[in-house]
Amino acid sequence: MIVCIDGPAGAGKSTVARALAQRLGFRFLDTGAMYRAVALAADRRGIDWNEPGQIAALAQKLRFQFDGERLLLDGQDVSVDIRAPRITALTHYAADNPGVRRRLVELQRQIAGDDDVVAEGRDQGTVVFPQAQCKIFLTASAAERARRRLAQLQSQGAVANYDELLAEQNLRDQRDASREVGPLKPAPDAIHVLTDGLSAEEVLARLEALVHAARRRDHAPKPT
Ligand code: DC
Repeated sequence: MIVCIDGPAGAGKSTVARALAQRLGFRFLDTGAMYRAVALAADRRGIDWNEPGQIAALAQKLRFQFDGERLLLDGQDVSVDIRAPRITALTHYAADNPGVRRRLVELQRQIAGDDDVVAEGRDQGTVVFPQAQCKIFLTASAAERARRRLAQLQSQGAVANYDELLAEQNLRDQRDASREVGPLKPAPDAIHVLTDGLSAEEVLARLEALVHAARRRDHAPKPT
């Protein structure tokens, strides 16, 4: 069974998708980590960001391996480095590149194989797994998402400003939604879950119920 969780940055997808996979005993596929890893590899090699062909050629050669919570890139653990603010800011060069997307979509399908998977990203229900039995579009208002990000950064001891975070988030939203290939948009058969005012535990319970309902539907005898 494939469960797709798509939605904008800061809607709480990662935390909830990871926990859902664990609770269901499914594998977790963090597709954002793969786009981040391409940006990291390009940055380390000093590739010219204005040369999309070079970034796409690099993506063809990279080896991705998920090991529990960790992402190994060409055998090296990059799980922490891909979250650096510099890489977050550069990742759109990978995500906007049609050649990179083609390669990563192919790899994501290969990695999922025939396993039970929770796949998280922007285009999982629309492009990568259009046949998925359960598609969730997880979102929250822009103000709520920026507030959560501020609280998260402050709890890590970082100095952050709400207005700046909101402006950065609006820019990412706009980029994600206007990308020519694989833009952020709900699949027609996705169930929308708005997480404003809900705790992670409440969101998780709601998603779990949706997966169980989808599973019952999938196993129900088909009308003849
Ligand atoms: O979910 P995240 O913040 O780790 O994603 C990093 C970037 O990659 C973000 O700018 C959106 C992009 N992305 C994408 O275009 N398609 C995906 N399936 C996942 C992420």
